[in-house]
Amino acid sequence: MSHKPVIALLGGGQLGRMFIENALRYDALVHVLDPDPKAPCAALAHRFVPGRYDDRATVLAFAADADVVGIEIEHVSVEALEELVAMGKRVIPDPRVLRIIQDKGAQKSFYADHGIPSAPFSLLDDGRDARHHTDRFPAFLKARRGGYDGKGVMALRTAADAEQAFAGPCVLEHQVSIAKELAVLVVRADNGTTVVYDPVEMVFDPRFNLVDHLRTPAQVSARIDEEARALAERVANAFAAPGLYAVELFLTTDGRVLVNETAPRAHNSGHHSIEACASSQFDQLLRLYLGLPPGSPRLNGHAAMINLVGEGGTGEPEVQGLDDVLAFAGTFMHLYGKHETRTGRKMGHITVCAPDAGSLDEGLALAKDHARVVPRAHQEHEPTQR
Ligand SMILES: Nc1ncnc2c1ncn2[C@@H]1O[C@H](COP(=O)(O)OP(=O)(O)O)[C@@H](O)[C@H]1O
Ligand SMILES: [Mg+2]
Repeated sequence: MSHKPVIALLGGGQLGRMFIENALRYDALVHVLDPDPKAPCAALAHRFVPGRYDDRATVLAFAADADVVGIEIEHVSVEALEELVAMGKRVIPDPRVLRIIQDKGAQKSFYADHGIPSAPFSLLDDGRDARHHTDRFPAFLKARRGGYDGKGVMALRTAADAEQAFAGPCVLEHQVSIAKELAVLVVRADNGTTVVYDPVEMVFDPRFNLVDHLRTPAQVSARIDEEARALAERVANAFAAPGLYAVELFLTTDGRVLVNETAPRAHNSGHHSIEACASSQFDQLLRLYLGLPPGSPRLNGHAAMINLVGEGGTGEPEVQGLDDVLAFAGTFMHLYGKHETRTGRKMGHITVCAPDAGSLDEGLALAKDHARVVPRAHQEHEPTQR
């Protein structure tokens, strides 16, 4: 490219924001499309366009002058991406892969077709038909399209649960007995070589069904560690296109490793890589976009990542506990610059890097005890007035 490369990103949330932080070091230009004019990328992108990434014409107009097109969310117009490929632009992920992943039914069938182990499932034309299949309970009902962060997923234990089932096409999946949830990031380069990160262990917050924290290396046996890496690599190779793949896995109580789902993009489970790995997931994406060699996934020591999720309602965000948290060596704060906090909304995260598991636990406990994002109190409640 004779000019500075222009990367057009569909979606302007925290993933895009962390991508921009790193892309600046390569002097690449990042253009961002997001419907929210106050999105976390709005003030940072070289060009920010307010608009819908799921609208074909909007995406085509937005990406017209880009060299590369990327995503930070799956629910984008694949038709537009296919046309952009036909125009000769580099699009990552491959629209063919995105088509499979956007539809949880197609994704599950893809794993089955490729002999990739995942929980047994069936496809329902309408989720409400789940009530006729109580013999398969306990199960998980998943809307085939549009879900994220636990929205569009429900546990079905009793016939009464099925009364709340979603309408529309769904996957009905056997509930597996989970010992641990793991995630493995894989980079697949143009020439088909792969780079695989250390598995991370995800710990969920049952209140929001969001990842509460993650840690790496995962506390699993060497055999499971190896199996998780190998399975994630198989998934990336089955998709057979350059990209960054975050593969979510279940380690079952009877010692099997199953694929849950894959995100063809940067992922919450890879945030620790910014400080804890030689190359972060965002650095890998940038290298992929520009056709540069992949970076090293080497993990330095132990790391944990805690999502900072809004508590206590809606309002202008106030971050509490920063002093206590950052006093611990190797602790880093990321705030996403969202203008409004809401209960359950991801507002930022904390990364703890430590030389061993014991000191990691200490830093993790400190961060969990002290860090909060709450709505700013009204003026009469301001501490200075008390
Ligand atoms: N078949 C299953 N058995 C047990 N737990 C499951 C199953 N499917 C999903 N879950 C639980 O629900 C969570 C969300 O499901 P997932 O398919 O990953 O949807 P999302 O798109 O919301 O991430 C998983 O991380 C896991 O905790
Ligand atoms: Mg998931």
